[in-house]
Amino acid sequence: MIDLTDCQPFARGGNRDCYRHPEQPDRCLKLVRTEALEARRKRQPRYKRWRPNHAMDDNQQEHRAYQQLLRDHPECDTLWHHLPRFYGQADTSLGLANVCELILSADNTPAPTLEALITADPLHPTLVDAIRQFQQWLRQHQVMTRNLLPHNLVVGGQDEQLRLVLIDGLGAAWAQQQLAQLPGGRRRYIERRIIKMNRRLHWEQQGRPGRWEEAEQRPLPHE
Ligand SMILES: Nc1ncnc2c1ncn2[C@@H]1O[C@H](COP(=O)(O)OP(=O)(O)OP(=O)(O)O)[C@@H](O)[C@H]1O
Ligand SMILES: [Mg+2]
Repeated sequence: MIDLTDCQPFARGGNRDCYRHPEQPDRCLKLVRTEALEARRKRQPRYKRWRPNHAMDDNQQEHRAYQQLLRDHPECDTLWHHLPRFYGQADTSLGLANVCELILSADNTPAPTLEALITADPLHPTLVDAIRQFQQWLRQHQVMTRNLLPHNLVVGGQDEQLRLVLIDGLGAAWAQQQLAQLPGGRRRYIERRIIKMNRRLHWEQQGRPGRWEEAEQRPLPHE
């Protein structure tokens, strides 16, 4: 049992708190907040509210997505260029945690999110390169992801060697996984995620003008 009594999370998402592992500082512990789970249940359409916690729990979904990833890509070391290594689940004093690689900056502190770094216009060329490399890797490995949101990507490493890592949003909904089985379906799905990622980056960089639901339908000039 990992004791987190005196630990503070280093970051908090909409659903989970993230702690640095007290004995293995290169690992991240993610714990679902119960109140976030309940709030999510209330936001669901009525017919989905009966679902058990484990069906809506981000940690369980992530665990399943990693299992699927490893079935799709057995012994593929390049997967971990842009995804944190996953070490399974562990009991903590605050409940069951997902354990994964903690992505670090050059000074050994947790890496910032892409969201925090895209306020500059134009973007720094090394960041643009890092984004391209990430998208190239997605195409090569055909990794299934949900929408690629800047707050779910962190930027590890330093200066010339930035590394974009998807720390949340691996896997896809059941229906999308079925469509991806059709000829060319997976490739089309991934291209669509990349297009949406670029539109999202552009929209956030502009200061989020208007509604995202409209911005995501609008092609960028170079598309
Ligand atoms: N492996 C990691 N390495 C470094 N930082 C991380 C890692 N995982 C999470 N973080 C930090 O913790 C924050 C919250 O993590 P995460 O996105 O997994 O939580 P969440 O509640 O599931 O998010 P959401 O609000 O998207 O549902 C991230 O935005 C990031 O800043
Ligand atoms: Mg997140």
